Order: sequence, then C-alpha cells, then structure tokens
Amino acid sequence: MPFAHITGWGMYVPEPVLTNDDIAKLVETSDEWIRERTGIRERHIARETEFPSTLGVEAAIRALKVANLAPTELDLIICTSSSPEYIFPATACIIQDQIGATKAGAFDLQAACTGFVYALNMGAQAIRSGSMKNVLVIGTEVLSRFVNWKDRNTCILFGDGAGAFVLQASDQPGGVMSAVMHSDGSGADSLSVPAGGAHSPATEATIREGKHFIQMDGKEVFRFATRVMGRAVTESLEQIQLTTNDVQWIVPHQANYRIIESAAKHLKMPLDKFVINVDRYGNTSTASIPLATIEALQKSQIKPNDKVVFVAFGGGLTWGAMVVEWTGPLPAKKQVHLRQYRLFARLRSFIRRIFRHIEGFLSRKEV
Ligand code: UT7
Repeated sequence: MPFAHITGWGMYVPEPVLTNDDIAKLVETSDEWIRERTGIRERHIARETEFPSTLGVEAAIRALKVANLAPTELDLIICTSSSPEYIFPATACIIQDQIGATKAGAFDLQAACTGFVYALNMGAQAIRSGSMKNVLVIGTEVLSRFVNWKDRNTCILFGDGAGAFVLQASDQPGGVMSAVMHSDGSGADSLSVPAGGAHSPATEATIREGKHFIQMDGKEVFRFATRVMGRAVTESLEQIQLTTNDVQWIVPHQANYRIIESAAKHLKMPLDKFVINVDRYGNTSTASIPLATIEALQKSQIKPNDKVVFVAFGGGLTWGAMVVEWTGPLPAKKQVHLRQYRLFARLRSFIRRIFRHIEGFLSRKEV
C-alpha cells in the first residue's frame, strides 16, 4: 500500500493588513480587549479584485514549485473553504482551470474550519488506496466578505489567506500516518451563515437582517473547542500507538490563543510545542493549519522525520486530527517551470472558451 507524503507546500496572503486599532474605528472595541481575549493583533484582508480562487491559485503554484510537480501530473484537486467563490461551481474547478491541471478531477469539501484536516485525509486516502498518485489540497478563504463589520463579536476574529499542500504516493514509509474525523450536527446553529442556501434563499429580508454574514455563539464554540481538541490529538496518536512524547510539533487551527493554551494544558504539553501565528493572521478557517505549518517550515522549526499533529475544530460542528511524519519533496527528476504552465493554462482556458462559443453558435444554426 503506497504512503501519502506531503511533498510541496505554498501559502499566499493578501497584502492589506487590518490592525485591531483599525477595527476599533468600526465597532466599539479596543486593541487591548482583542489581544487579551483572542491573541490576535492583525489580519490580512483581500482586495476587491481578489477571490478565494485568486489566493488559492497563488498558494497552489507555490506548493507545486516546492514539490517540483507539473500541474498536468495532478490526479485530483480538493479545495476546502468556508467562504467559497460560489455555491457552485466548485472553487476547485476554477483553480484547476487557472493552473492548467488538465487531467485532474476537482471538487470542494465543506467542513468549516476543520476542512483542511478532512481534505488532507481524503486526499491521503485516495493515494493510500492506490487509485491516485498526485493530489493537491487547498484551503482558501476570503472570509472578510462574510463578516458583518458592525458585529464586534465576530469581526475581530477572521482574516483572509490560502495554503496548499501537495500529496504524493511513495513506497517509503512516512507522510500521513493516521487521522480522526468527527461531527455533531446538533450544534449546527452555533456557527453558521444562515442565509443564501436552499434553507433561506436571498431575499430583501434576509439581507436586511444580515443573515448572509457569519453568526456565532462565541462562548458555545469556545467551550466545544476546549472540550474536543486535546481528545482528538490523543485519539489520532493512539491509532498508531504513539503518545504526545513522540510528537515534535502540534499545529492547531488558529482561532484563539486561549483555546490553544487550554489544549496544551489538557494534553500536558508545553505551549512551545504548539505552532502559533494567530496574532498576525487571525482565524483564516481552512487556511490556518497550512499557514502555520509553512511558517514553521520557513523558520526551520518543523524538520524531516518530525512527527507533527494537525488538529482543528469548527462549524458543523466538526473536529478532527491527523498525525504526519514530515518528509519533504521527493527526489527531483527534472526541473518543472511553473511559469510556463501558468501561461499555457491561461491560453488553454481562453481557447476553450472561444471554442465553446463557436460550438454553441454552430449547433444553434443546425437546430
Ligand atoms: O473557527 C472557529 C471560530 N470561532 C471561534 O473559535 C470562536 C470561539 N470563541 C471565542 O474565541 C470567544 O468566545 C470570543 C473571542 C468570541 C469572545 O470572548 P469571550 O471571552 O468569550 O467574551 P464574551 O463573549 O463572554 O464577552 C464578554 C464581554 C461581553 O460584555 P458583557 O456582556 O460582559 O458586558 C461582550 O459584550 O465582552 C463584550 N465583547 C466585547 N468587548 C469589546 C464582546 N466582543 C467584544 C469586543 N470588544 N470585540
């Protein structure tokens, strides 16, 4: 049975930064309150011209570059997002077209902030089954479009950004070693965007009532998160007969510094084994685990052979954890020039659109 290794990684955050002081100009809050209660100092916010696919494409290209893998070699793209481009088509398909992943299947996976752990596990399982060799997993968010900038309970928390991992099959042991995924829909209404779906399609009333924005019972989500995080880590380790002593790094979903502190306490682990960057990005939902992992790699904190645990929780309610033995890129065959693939993808997409128009025009004439 092949192993699923993480061989490439890439992140992208939009340039504009929104500080706590900036938010204090919009709602009644303060830098001190936000830092004390959440650990967040600032977050990145996408420009009007940037979308989940824009951020996702940048992260994906960077991840493919590290893996030295051509987009045409991808078998599958799984995109996970709590702020997708549309209800459909899938954001994954838009990214597939823009990077020129000509033979890849592409779909979105929705598990709120746990999405990246779920998607990585699904990608890894596709590889473990032997049916796929190269899978791209992307978490991308433009949550700022779903935030009610008049609601101080939520607008202080969220940020925009994207992260991507390439998973590749190898006979060498390592990579994704175990995973647990959980859900409890009885808590569905504690974190949601209530309108815009089939339950409450957009009407003047839903818009007037702000139901297209994120609604959250912060205290409830906080209690749930502190309850499940430590337990999920332990469960994922027990699956492969490991304990926290075998782990070099925990990369938790970055929602609130106090939630991470409480998980560390529950696991009886020092906080310096936890990768934390919530201070500079806020809660980027599905992108938070790859963003934190990639920063830890850039600082040479995570190294090859390290055992790393990803753990997340979020709307649904959902939660999950995964143990990974870190490896890095597979030995390079030949250098892949991703710029050329990107140009080719744009040209290909343009030609296919024109062709579709001509085909449509001709078939109308035939009728
Ligand atoms: O990916 C998962 C996404 N969500 C989460 O992880 C959220 C989890 N929850 C949390 O992180 C925390 O519950 C919050 C940061 C959202 C809130 O912190 P808290 O310590 O639970 O505050 P609270 O809701 O208990 O509010 C305490 C007080 C209230 O005032 P009163 O009723 O005591 O007078 C709030 O009205 O703080 C007030 N408050 C604020 N004050 C200044 C709430 N938000 C703010 C604010 N600035 N932004």
